[in-house]
Amino acid sequence: MKKKVTKAIFPVAGLGTRFLPATKSVPKEIMTLVDRPLIQYAIDEARAAGIEDFIFVTSRGKTALEDYFDLAPDLEAALEGAGKTELLDILRTTNMDSGAIAYIRQHKPLGLGHAVSCASKLIGNEPFAVILPDDVIAADKPCLQQMVEAYEETGGAMVAAMEVAPEKTSSYGILDVKGGDGPVVSVNRMVEKPKQGTAPSNLAVIGRYILTPHVMQNFAHITKGAGGEVQLTDAIAAEISQGRDVFGFRFDGQRFDCGSKAGFLQATVAFALARDELRDDLYGYLTEMVSVDKAAQ
Ligand code: UTP
Repeated sequence: MKKKVTKAIFPVAGLGTRFLPATKSVPKEIMTLVDRPLIQYAIDEARAAGIEDFIFVTSRGKTALEDYFDLAPDLEAALEGAGKTELLDILRTTNMDSGAIAYIRQHKPLGLGHAVSCASKLIGNEPFAVILPDDVIAADKPCLQQMVEAYEETGGAMVAAMEVAPEKTSSYGILDVKGGDGPVVSVNRMVEKPKQGTAPSNLAVIGRYILTPHVMQNFAHITKGAGGEVQLTDAIAAEISQGRDVFGFRFDGQRFDCGSKAGFLQATVAFALARDELRDDLYGYLTEMVSVDKAAQ
């Protein structure tokens, strides 16, 4: 019987250079879409998928993340005293059970694969999820939950996948797949950041994974790959060469690349428009902006 996926790794040790100077002192994952930090969206998605153990791979300057998930007794007492029960409920959604979160350090930013491998001892011999909090996915059924359900059928390693424009393939891990247009496709080959014009398809890997303990073991013989970094893609691709299954999963939902400024701004607008209390004002403002811009042309 397949083991249930109850552990998730959140690699948050990157430098976040695309958001400098903000990320000099604020971890990228603490930046907010409307009023919730990116990391909260990731945790909520993981919980919905049945994750019970949350493993953060952090680095220097990320203590704000640890503080965010701590209890805030003074703040809770102040809100309670003032009868602000709605705000108190919102605050309490950030509380985590003692022992549910582990923080481990990646001492040098040697790449996403290296960050994941730092959690190896905490994963042991179990399947695990990896969530990149800067990929935010809006979906009726949360993306990781969709993947866990698919994984229960397929086993193997599974990566979230979506079609990207051909000129964008060099920024992603790209899949060479067999299988039709359905959500689950079998992967023949994976290439991290292929040079322009050499991508085997335009099906790109997005920041959600369900991986087997074998993938963790592969790091023992993975060397630096694209960009001089230890790549997670290479450890997953090694599964294929060893004759084990790797699947791509075309999820249902809209993905925002919140690791880039443009993606972050688009997500901010989309998530704000989805909120009843903000929608009308923001919609009016955006319509006005667009019409002024058109008038100027
Ligand atoms: P990115 O490629 O977005 O890098 O990492 P980054 O450092 O976060 O941001 P930029 O490109 O400098 O702006 C993808 C994910 O992998 C993690 C990041 O924290 C992010 O969640 N990561 C990357 C690590 O944990 N360690 C690394 O060495 C590299």
